[in-house]
Order: sequence, then structure tokens, then C-alpha cells
Amino acid sequence: MTIIKSKKFILRPFKKGDHTSLVRNINNKKISRNTLSIPYPYKMSNARSWINYNIKLDKKKKKEEMNFVIDIAGDVAGSIGLREIKAGHMAEMSYWVGEKYRGQGIMTAVLKEITKYGFNELKLRRMEIGIFHFNEASKRVAEKAGYQCEGRMRKYVLKNKKFIDALLFAKVR
Ligand SMILES: CC(C)(COP(=O)(O)OP(=O)(O)OC[C@H]1O[C@@H](n2cnc3c(N)ncnc32)[C@H](O)[C@@H]1OP(=O)(O)O)[C@@H](O)C(=O)NCCC(=O)NCCS
Repeated sequence: MTIIKSKKFILRPFKKGDHTSLVRNINNKKISRNTLSIPYPYKMSNARSWINYNIKLDKKKKKEEMNFVIDIAGDVAGSIGLREIKAGHMAEMSYWVGEKYRGQGIMTAVLKEITKYGFNELKLRRMEIGIFHFNEASKRVAEKAGYQCEGRMRKYVLKNKKFIDALLFAKVR
């Protein structure tokens, strides 16, 4: 998988040994509440199986899913994933940043880098993010990275026996 370097962070694949720092930063109620499938509490066993899953994924030639670590000085400060990379045309994204790294423009910078990578290297024509309707910080990140809201997808997600509306943000080339 590609490695993308910037002044503040490195975007790189998951590797063995990431589990301690992954759990430290992802084990957070706000992350779980705002994402589809990240549990809280997030256990060491969750981290190990996620890392193993990604190591296997990384060996596949045809990339249908790519999950990058947002590495800040060796710490798994967050992550951004591209999924459903369908026939080289589009990808769906999700992301999180550990609480101590928030509010510094990190995710906006990461999303800008990944968007550049998706359009220029993967040759995608559309990149999209489904954001829970109450997630103001993520909406702001998407807007700052040049994504447009295309509408509200009603009852898009069923989580903890409750339906959640999501806003569809996208950027096209
Ligand atoms: C969403 C998230 C990734 C943002 O990461 P971040 O590195 O803090 O983002 P940035 O610093 O680049 O930008 C955050 C913006 O949201 C704004 N913001 C934060 N909380 C907000 C709130 N409650 N209401 C309105 N705006 C808010 C910040 O002020 C900032 O905007 P500004 O630069 O105009 O001031 C992070 O909060 C997170 O991981 N949340 C939990 C998981 C999640 O929501 N993932 C996204 C799923 S779609």
C-alpha cells in the first residue's frame, strides 16, 4: 500500500505492533457513537483482528478496501479508510482521530491528501462520505476539504436498534 507523507503525519498501512497505540486512541465513546461499526469499549482483541485483517487485505493485488493509519510520531493517532473502490470509479470513506489530536486541522489535512490520492493515483471520479446527521465536526471537515452535501439519506443506518439519518457528502472529478 502507498505511503503518503506530510509535515504533520504519515499515512501508512497498519502493521503488527500497532495494537497498543490503536486501542489507546480509538477506545472512545465519541468515536463509537459517530461511526457504524467501531465498538466501545474497544478491546485489544478487536485491535489485533483489525490489524490482521488489514495485513491480509494489503497483500491483495486488486484493492477494494484500503485503511490508512494516521501516524503521528509513531502513534496511531487516527485512521481513514476507503471502501467499495468499485471498478476504479468511486470510493466511500470513513475516518476517526483520537481525542487528544482533535481540533488541530489534522483530519481536514488528511482528507485533502486522500482525496488527491484517490483522484490522481487511483483515478477515481467520485469520493463520498456518509455522515450521521448529528456529527457537526465531520460535516465541517468534509466541507473544508471541498466536499458538497448532496442530501439526507433517511434511516440510512440501523445502529443499536435505532435508525439514523446520514448526510451524503461527495466530491467528483
Ligand atoms: C470528526 C473528526 C474526525 C474531526 O477530526 P479533527 O482532526 O478534529 O478535524 P479538524 O480539526 O480538521 O476540523 C474539525 C472542525 O470541526 C469543528 N467542530 C468540532 N466540533 C464541532 C461541533 N460540535 N459543532 C460544530 N463544529 C465543530 C471544528 O471547530 C473544526 O472546524 P474549524 O476549523 O472551522 O474551526 C473527529 O472529531 C473524530 O474522530 N470524531 C469521532 C469519529 C467521527 O466522527 N468520525 C467521522 C465519521 S463520518
